[in-house]
Amino acid sequence: MDRRRARARAISAAFALLFAAGAADAPRIPIREARWLAPASLFESLSREPAECLVAPRDPAERRAVAIGRAAFRAPLLLGGQAARTGMSCATCHRNGRGNPAFLFPGLSGPPGTADVTSSLMSSHRGDHVVNPKPIPDLGGSPALLRVARDPADPALGHFIHGLIAEEFDGPEPSPEILAGLAAYVRALRPEGCGGGGTDRPIRLGERLGEAEAALALARDARGETRRLLLAAARSTLGAVDERFRLPGRERDRDALRAADADLRAIRDGGAGFEAWDRLWPARKRLLLADENRSLFVPRLLRRALAQH
Ligand code: HEC
Repeated sequence: MDRRRARARAISAAFALLFAAGAADAPRIPIREARWLAPASLFESLSREPAECLVAPRDPAERRAVAIGRAAFRAPLLLGGQAARTGMSCATCHRNGRGNPAFLFPGLSGPPGTADVTSSLMSSHRGDHVVNPKPIPDLGGSPALLRVARDPADPALGHFIHGLIAEEFDGPEPSPEILAGLAAYVRALRPEGCGGGGTDRPIRLGERLGEAEAALALARDARGETRRLLLAAARSTLGAVDERFRLPGRERDRDALRAADADLRAIRDGGAGFEAWDRLWPARKRLLLADENRSLFVPRLLRRALAQH
C-alpha cells in the first residue's frame, strides 16, 4: 500500500511538473499528446503512427475479447486519477501496441522513449522510490525481447496488467471482462500481424472514427463497468478528434462533435438508448470526413500550426 501511495504521489508530481512546463515553453498546439512528445519529434509523431501488429483470432468470443481490450487500451479512463485526467492511456506509451521512441514525460522518463512504470512489478527493488526508467517495449515485437509470458494458460500477463492499472497508475479496479480483454489484445499483438515489415502510416480521421464506432458497437452488448469504459473510450476518441478541428472556421465540425458527445453522455447516464446516436451520427460523420482536409489531420496544416506555436 505504501509503495502505491508513493507511486501515486510521484505521478501527481510528474503531472504538476508537466503543466508548469506547459505554461512556460512547451508547444501550445491544441493536441494533448504534444505535451509528452520530445519537441524534435513533434511533427513526425503527430502525423504518423506505427502499424499495429494484430493477429485477430478466429473464435468469435476471443475476437470480442480482443476488440474490448483494444478499446480499453486506448481509453484514458482505464488508468484513473491524474493519468486519466491528462488523457494518458496504455496507447500513449505503446502507440498502436508498439513503443513510442518520442515519449518524454518529466518525472517518468529518462531519455525519450523510456518510462518508469514497472519497478515494483518486475524488478527486485520492491519499495524503492528511485525513478528507474526503462525503454518502452514494442508489444508486437519479437517474443524473444519480451519478458512477460504470453501463454494463455499462464496467468502472468493478467497479473502484470492488473498491477499496472491498480498499483502503478492507482486506477480503479478494472472489470474481469476488461482485464481479460486487455490480456487477449496484448496476446494478439505479434510480429506476423505487422504486414510487410510494419512500417508507419499517416494518422487519419477515418481510422479514429472507426475506433469510436467499434467501442460503441461493443458497448451495446456490454454491461456495468465494461459498458461504462467502452462508452468512455468512444468519448475520449471523439475528444482527440475535436483537438484536430480546433482551427478558425471549423466551428461546425466541433459543434457536431459536441452534439455527438452529448448523445453518448446521455447513453452513459442511463436515460437514453442508442436511437439519437443512430439517427444523427451518419450525417455528422460525413461532415467531419468532408472537412478532414481542413483539419490538423493534414500534415501541411499541422506543420503550419506547429510553426506558429
Ligand atoms: C508511461 C508509459 C507506459 C504506460 C502508460 C503503459 N506502459 Fe506498458 N510498459 C512501459 C514500459 C517502460 C515497460 C517496460 C518495463 C520494464 O522493462 O521494466 C512496459 C511493459 C509492458 C508490458 C510487458 C512487455 C514484456 O516485456 O513482456 C506489457 C504487457 C505492457 N507494458 C502493457 C501495458 C498495458 C496493458 C498498459 C495499460 C494498462 C500499459 N502497458 C501502459 C510503459 C508504459
